[in-house]
Amino acid sequence: MLRAMLMWLAGNQRMERIVRGSRLTRPLIVRFIAGEDLDDALVQIRSILARRQTVTLDLLGENVATQEAAQAAADAYLGVLDRLHAENLDVNISIKLTMLGLDLDEDTTWERLRTIVGRAADMGGFVRIDMEGSPYTERTLALFRRIHDLHAEHVGIVLQSMLYRTETDLEEMIARKARVRIVKGAYQEPETIAYPRKADVDAAYRRHVERLLEAGTYPAIATHDEAMLDLVRGQVRSGRVTTDQFEFQMLYGVRRDLQQQLANEGYGMRVYVPYGTSWYPYFMRRLAERPANVFFLLRQLVRS
Ligand code: FDA
Repeated sequence: MLRAMLMWLAGNQRMERIVRGSRLTRPLIVRFIAGEDLDDALVQIRSILARRQTVTLDLLGENVATQEAAQAAADAYLGVLDRLHAENLDVNISIKLTMLGLDLDEDTTWERLRTIVGRAADMGGFVRIDMEGSPYTERTLALFRRIHDLHAEHVGIVLQSMLYRTETDLEEMIARKARVRIVKGAYQEPETIAYPRKADVDAAYRRHVERLLEAGTYPAIATHDEAMLDLVRGQVRSGRVTTDQFEFQMLYGVRRDLQQQLANEGYGMRVYVPYGTSWYPYFMRRLAERPANVFFLLRQLVRS
């Protein structure tokens, strides 16, 4: 219920104005967002790299409304790749296809994606295509298949365990040896296509993690759920998988203690670092994931 409301508010401009306008929401925003420009983000990135962790960088933005905005986003990503290369930073990028214009036109979105992944491939980099809400699943996978055919080593996809269809999508991605980031799923979805109960999402996640580790296609296990981390640790202890056959991923600002602990234990730990001015929908999804975040925010808003 609370989650559904927050997901609805994620698209509400009035709420966005309130959250953006209040100085008191700042502490929570800076916890989840690495800054509004690339220079800010680079400061955080260097500090993460110094702690023996790796990074995937996300320039925030989604559902752009014009071709100009989509092109500007693609140009900004090319600038990010150039800057990372110039500064000799071994950092992946994460990208949302609605930021490249998927709501507007598939052909131009494809051209932009091809240019970005092509540039990353030239530099030896890696691009992860984030997965958005279910209206985009099929089109995202279709563009992923095309780009994976061109640059298999330099591009990966995200699958969401909450969707029933993921059982099939996972097998397809394993068959094409694609690198999968497996997540539980951050969007509000109808019961007809997604597990409504968290226990079922967790059970599906567990199944998908085990299947990906068994397949050996260097999955990214993206979760902060300690039960899932223990599951993976157990597989390593029993010798079924080694630490160089997968990596953990976590979000900037979420369970930093665990991020460092896993890195110290010798696991690959990649932090998803979001930055940019269009942080509002991303921020609201982070609130929806954990009620305690909402109560903190409400306290600040009431005080203001
Ligand atoms: P779960 O929700 O069960 O949380 C387990 C524990 O983690 C909580 O008890 C709490 O301690 C902590 N926690 C989780 N979220 C928190 C938060 N926001 N604030 C504070 N503590 C929190 N989704 C998607 O649909 N498409 C995508 O492309 C991606 N990409 C992505 C990349 C990476 C690197 C990560 C880690 C996650 C995503 N996600 C995503 C988000 C994902 O689908 C999911 O919503 C969150 O990871 C939360 O689920 P957990 O697996 O952490 O478990």
